[in-house]
Amino acid sequence: MPWWVARLPPACLTTARSQQRKSNDGHQRISRPGHRANRGTGRAFARALIEHGAAKVYAGVRDPAATPDRNVTPLRLDVTRPDEIAEATAVARDVTIVINNAGIGSTGTGLLNGTFDAARQAMEVNHFGTWAVSRAFAPILARNGGDALVNTLSLASWVGQPSFPGYAAAKAAQWSQTDALRQDLREQGTLLTAPLPGRGGVSLLRG
Ligand SMILES: NC(=O)c1ccc[n+]([C@@H]2O[C@H](COP(=O)([O-])OP(=O)(O)OC[C@H]3O[C@@H](n4cnc5c(N)ncnc54)[C@H](OP(=O)(O)O)[C@@H]3O)[C@@H](O)[C@H]2O)c1
Repeated sequence: MPWWVARLPPACLTTARSQQRKSNDGHQRISRPGHRANRGTGRAFARALIEHGAAKVYAGVRDPAATPDRNVTPLRLDVTRPDEIAEATAVARDVTIVINNAGIGSTGTGLLNGTFDAARQAMEVNHFGTWAVSRAFAPILARNGGDALVNTLSLASWVGQPSFPGYAAAKAAQWSQTDALRQDLREQGTLLTAPLPGRGGVSLLRG
């Protein structure tokens, strides 16, 4: 059971909305790309927080109109845009948990060929985007008692990936800044935790 369940936080922010669907065998599956409001793990985080007693859950999303849950408060948030991060911190001043979950795959950059564009964009979203949201919300977490920052990493943070090297490099960089934040935010009483999932769906690695 995640620790925040017992803490019943009054408000949380998770970046990236989405939903998981049950397949015929009853197991959770990440749905197909193209269903922008129906994919990924961000919505699963938001729903779990609500189910376990969070009084308010903000979802940092690029398209607030597409947010399917009425009990989630959407905030327009592209993690590469400083202005939208600033607006999110102005609104979500009551959060006690921030979950950095936004990520892109960067399969357009091959290890030995192709441009670096996709790899650079993965660095912008996965590494700098996470970093920017973390530093923006750190003072808010401190004011609200510390609590927690959750950064979704990947097994690729630890193992180079010849098939998607840009993604793995960005996730490795994200791991490094996460570990530095973990040490630094301890002083203000913020627990930093970072799941490293294995490959659970295909949509991420198609773009
Ligand atoms: N899927 C896997 O196998 C796997 C394995 C290990 C780790 N992870 C990690 O898990 C996290 C979630 O991935 P997922 O599997 O749920 O992937 P996903 O279905 O592709 O979802 C990615 C989410 O990130 C959002 N996003 C992308 N760029 C953004 C930006 N600039 N600003 C704000 N949001 C942005 C997308 O928003 P839109 O809906 O607006 O496009 C989408 O909701 C990622 O950090 C990923 O690295 C995934």
